[in-house]
Amino acid sequence: MNTVKRSIKISIILLVSLVVMSCSNTEETKTPPIPDQDFNEDWLFFKGSVDSGENVTLDDSNWRKLTLPHDWAIEGPFKKGSDLRTGGLPVHGVGWYRKHFNIDKSHQNKQISIEFDGAMNNSKVWLNGTYIGERPFGYIGFEFDLTPYINFGGDNVIAVQLSPEDLSSRWYPGAGIYRNVRLKLNNAIHIPQWGTYITTPKVTDQQATVNVETTIKNANSSTAEVVLETTLKDKNGKIVGAVSVPLTINESSEKNVEQSIKVINPERWDIKSPTLYTAISKVLVNGQEVDVFTSEFGIRTISFDANDGFILNGNKVELNGVCMHHDQGPLGTAINYRAKERQMQIMQSMGVNALRTSHNPPSPELLQVCDRLGIVVIVEAFDEWKKGKVPNGYNKHFDKWHEKDLRDMIRRDHNHPSVIMWSIGNEILEQSEKDGWKLTKHLNDICHDQDPTRPTTIGFNYYPAPFVNKLAYQVDVVGMNYWPLSYKEIKEQNPDIILYGSETSSLTSSRGVYHHPIEAEFQKETHHVSSYDAIVGPPWAYPPDAEFDAQEQNPFSLGEFMWTGFDYLGEPTPYAGKDNSTHGRWTLDWPSRSSYFAPVDLAGFPKDRYYLYQSQWTAEPMVHVLPHWNWEGKEGKTIPVYAYTNCDEVELIVNGKSLGRKVKGVDTTDIPAEFHDFKKGMYTSKYRLSWNVPYHPGSIKVIGYKNGKAVAEKEIKTAQSPAKVELLADRNEINADGKDLSFITVKIQDKFDALCPTATNKVNFKVTGEGTLVAVGNGDQTAITSFQANYRDTFSGLCLVVVKSTKKAGEIKIEATSDGLESNTIIVKTK
Ligand code: GAL
Repeated sequence: MNTVKRSIKISIILLVSLVVMSCSNTEETKTPPIPDQDFNEDWLFFKGSVDSGENVTLDDSNWRKLTLPHDWAIEGPFKKGSDLRTGGLPVHGVGWYRKHFNIDKSHQNKQISIEFDGAMNNSKVWLNGTYIGERPFGYIGFEFDLTPYINFGGDNVIAVQLSPEDLSSRWYPGAGIYRNVRLKLNNAIHIPQWGTYITTPKVTDQQATVNVETTIKNANSSTAEVVLETTLKDKNGKIVGAVSVPLTINESSEKNVEQSIKVINPERWDIKSPTLYTAISKVLVNGQEVDVFTSEFGIRTISFDANDGFILNGNKVELNGVCMHHDQGPLGTAINYRAKERQMQIMQSMGVNALRTSHNPPSPELLQVCDRLGIVVIVEAFDEWKKGKVPNGYNKHFDKWHEKDLRDMIRRDHNHPSVIMWSIGNEILEQSEKDGWKLTKHLNDICHDQDPTRPTTIGFNYYPAPFVNKLAYQVDVVGMNYWPLSYKEIKEQNPDIILYGSETSSLTSSRGVYHHPIEAEFQKETHHVSSYDAIVGPPWAYPPDAEFDAQEQNPFSLGEFMWTGFDYLGEPTPYAGKDNSTHGRWTLDWPSRSSYFAPVDLAGFPKDRYYLYQSQWTAEPMVHVLPHWNWEGKEGKTIPVYAYTNCDEVELIVNGKSLGRKVKGVDTTDIPAEFHDFKKGMYTSKYRLSWNVPYHPGSIKVIGYKNGKAVAEKEIKTAQSPAKVELLADRNEINADGKDLSFITVKIQDKFDALCPTATNKVNFKVTGEGTLVAVGNGDQTAITSFQANYRDTFSGLCLVVVKSTKKAGEIKIEATSDGLESNTIIVKTK
């Protein structure tokens, strides 16, 4: 092939390219770019060890056929004796995936690679029997070049072995190729994985400077003359800027190119208006496209101030944040866009505007959701460095992999406008080491080198160790886990630091469960925790109210990240214990298998605590009342009634009779501390209103008043015996794409449609038409029924059934029946 060495000025490149077309890089011009291919379908799976599972000739005809993403552990069963900290599910062992595929001979000149968004874990990959590579960390995305080993025009088999270990996580990690997989057929000259880095160094209302740094790879054995054309489009697809540059790229090398584009009257990405732009990067050879690469980004400014906190686009934003693990409750960890979107929408309805991806890199889909909803994110890399917290933790891989894992996390996520900080660790044990600052500095430097536009942080849980050992001075922003009463002191001693509550509260409760008296929160017999939300949790736990107060007292704080937004699989504190015979496994409190920490249960149903956060974090008038009003056998006895509101006053009406109004902030509520005392025992909250009410069946109703006007109300009625099954879909119409989900709430109601708050009726489901049942759940932390059964007991009157569309448009029919109750049917349309 002839290569013409040229030096061409940018202004004449387009004209000249036509002239030289016939004598430069001709093989590139034959094949237009092929979009990345979804490579999730038609995989074969075998759970267990396989001798030479990578062999081309292996008989895999009996292996199970499935579509990725896949989490084998969620299929269960729950097993007594297995670690409850990881959910009592089969999260360890060996699993093999294989896929047979063909690549047409016409693609012989392509660069072919496979991209995994994450595989849990210790993945090893072979193509046609040849070992390609490995990636121990289950939370990171990775790509392997397959080009040299492809059998063009014939059968190819890719084999992936995963071998997650027992005692390798403090929470449910899932197991399997649980994120998306893509096949890429690139031309030799192309933009590689994560090939753009987009920043907005200057933004005013009139104009934004958008810098796009693009990597271009030339895998040819000859120098390439190319043009990089970058076009920016607004949310409506209108072009708002474009620039092109000619480049010479040496053979078998990569080149980074920086382009700067001005956007006039930019629309900011903000929490209230999360506007996104798109950058389309085209690589041209001889005027013909050889690659097209699309990147979403936002135009926004962020800054962090020791006194004023977090500033987004010039305005202070108090971070009402949550920490979240990566599972999707009954759906396990197999990533699903809609499942993530639903989680974050529920969080947003509680008033959440910030997320900490505790304690690992998230799925790309979660960040897309946050970009689109307007939720800022701290992306966290590690729960452990060199010192492990569990026998088979990431610390085993830290030395070899930490730099690559950390850099890859940043390279993958740096274009997301939602991402505001990189967290390099959670409660890392090096805090207590005198020279722990050295490793902190090393990791901090990697982040700054990779992305100078965002600050770094750590969630510290010791105090004052990270200050004494100087780790806190090596990161840009200091996160403290569970030290609300010390913010003031920390700040007085370190006036220049930027501080926030990186993990807060850790209170526990079970939805719809109430114990009397309030002090009896913990109940070993039932393995549940009362929803009066006093103080049950680990020794460091405290009520949300204490953090609200601390944040108000210390306005320099960026805000808080409550532990956790949703209940998650694993870590069933306070029902969590181990004995010496279990080699470090938490097994004693079977069957508690999922966490009690969140204001929203594992199925996504709000607990009472959801409304306590809502009363502090939202402005739309709301009022909530608890407990339920079905106390058969307690007639005449006193029942504590709590109300949460963002209004000024609340009036309580019991059985039609007003018990008067209480004023928020003036009429306080004492929260006794029975199980663990919050520092000094009794805690008085100005965030709750309460009454002691003698129980008589009927109803309790609360009315919220703002400026003297009734603006919100809620009523709970005493329910009669269960009479019917009610079904409520979160969406009655979903996409017929084989991925979209409808989440259907199932309620047990009496004949007057009141929720039966203690009902445990079993509901059976039959799903027909263009959809399948993919999960059931009820939020009960002790339930060991399979999440994939076609029935579920209700818990506190509710359960959930999740259906998924097929790729054919039509209707999904969900029939729900329960012994002795009026049944129900709901139709979800797919298109
Ligand atoms: C924190 C830890 C979290 C979780 C939480 C429970 O110390 O960072 O991962 O274990 O405690 O309260």
